[in-house]
Amino acid sequence: MQQTIAVLDFGSQYTQVIARRIRECQVYSKIYHYTTTPAQLQADGVVGIILSGGPSSVFAKTAPIPDRGIFKLGVPVLGICYGIQLFGHLLGGKAAKSDHREYGNGILTIKKPGRLFAGLPKKIRVWNSHGDKVIALPPGFQAIGTTENSPYAAIEDRKRNLYGIQFHPEVFHTEHGVEVIRNFLVGVCGAKQDWTTKDFIAHAVENIRTTVGQSRVILGLSGGVDSSVAAALIHKAIGKQLTCVFVDNGLLRKGEREAVVELYGKHFHIDLRVVDAAKLFLRRLKGVSDPEKKRKIIGLTFVEVFEKSLKSIGHADYLAQGTLYPDVIESVAIGNNPAALIKSHHNVGGLPERMKLKLLEPLRELFKDEVRRVGSALGLPKEVVWRQPFPGPGLGVRVLGEVSAEKLEILRNADAILQEEMMACGRYWKVWQSFCVFLPVKSVGVVGDERNYAWVIAVRVVESIDAMTADWARLPHELLQKISSRITNEVRGVSRVVLDISSKPPATIEWE
Ligand code: XMP
Repeated sequence: MQQTIAVLDFGSQYTQVIARRIRECQVYSKIYHYTTTPAQLQADGVVGIILSGGPSSVFAKTAPIPDRGIFKLGVPVLGICYGIQLFGHLLGGKAAKSDHREYGNGILTIKKPGRLFAGLPKKIRVWNSHGDKVIALPPGFQAIGTTENSPYAAIEDRKRNLYGIQFHPEVFHTEHGVEVIRNFLVGVCGAKQDWTTKDFIAHAVENIRTTVGQSRVILGLSGGVDSSVAAALIHKAIGKQLTCVFVDNGLLRKGEREAVVELYGKHFHIDLRVVDAAKLFLRRLKGVSDPEKKRKIIGLTFVEVFEKSLKSIGHADYLAQGTLYPDVIESVAIGNNPAALIKSHHNVGGLPERMKLKLLEPLRELFKDEVRRVGSALGLPKEVVWRQPFPGPGLGVRVLGEVSAEKLEILRNADAILQEEMMACGRYWKVWQSFCVFLPVKSVGVVGDERNYAWVIAVRVVESIDAMTADWARLPHELLQKISSRITNEVRGVSRVVLDISSKPPATIEWE
């Protein structure tokens, strides 16, 4: 049986982050509802339990309280934030509302390193987010760390292997946070560090098979990282029971459709249906220049085309999506906290409800870098796994104003040159996005002895961590010169290339 670390979820916004940190330590973990019985945990081979934080106060009427039997399993328990209050509240100590609510940065002074803080400096910067604190230790416990406002910021009962910490070791802003978690997993629970990406894949494959049975699954393949990895994973699990639909909306980059057919159809032998809807999209976009209207038309047309293509494929029970954890805000319902809020953009326009399709989302617990690792392990090429983000409405929002076949063709050719040059110098993999934008203005140029009155192409290359903020990349002048002269020389209909040197904010990454 797989050694499992149980994360009991008390509704924390960080529960999935805890699970992710455990995976980083190469240990297998599973998130459980806080009401899970000790018998169930035992049956699952749980070797350690982590109590997550949570929005509630242990004193609240609706406070989530676990079965006290979990402390008697003989399995180590680590209570984080709300978890440490539970120790105070349930095991004979005392938790109380704190006079000093601690939010954000604080300094933890380690009094006794013991096993939890082994190898750490005496003082570490930690991230807090709590209004309650332990004011009297439960019998058997002693303080092992303090903060300015809290003499019991970290506590332990060595005999029973119970540990409580007020800060959040799982968040990025806590120094040595992963080490604290690793110390608990390995030093205290004796967990084996043998959970790898390959194990994740094997596990996911088994889950998909059990869930799907003999049913058919449909997946809208965009060629982006998430849907590509989902397709490869599901295909590994159920082979021909999976059908992928790729909609050519006419707003794709040069060679994109061909690359998808080559990789998924010919290489992976996935049942791939390519729907050529370029003409329909262009017809619908005719005369429309408002960016939001264009987005809406592209979105609605996609749903219409996708839905129609499903009818021709025949009956399916599942719609698969490459939803990742950051696309989902999900936690246990505590008080008024809704059980699951899913950002709507990831559900294909209400399709599952209308068509009575069940959702299959095998990546929904993973973060982007983990998905990339899974993709590589499944044999997807670097070009797919590390591809830059590309907006759903595609070149539709990169041809400014009204879209036409001619403008798209010019943009595609210019963009292909930019990508080629970015790849050739290796910078493609280092920046967040690099792309061309078609500006709907004509400028005068001179070719040979002739006047050339033609379009303008803007080059946009940005660096970013999460697309929330971005800065324009400082590219070498020689590279810019090559890109510019190649575009003006090789792409008919372009007289001028300009460079976008705006950061976000105040600009956005895309121009529309
Ligand atoms: P902005 O332009 O808002 O872009 O700074 C931030 C990131 O989001 C991408 N983007 C989109 N992605 N549909 C998408 O799927 C869209 O309508 C869309 N608009 C922008 C953009 O490429 C950048 O990575």
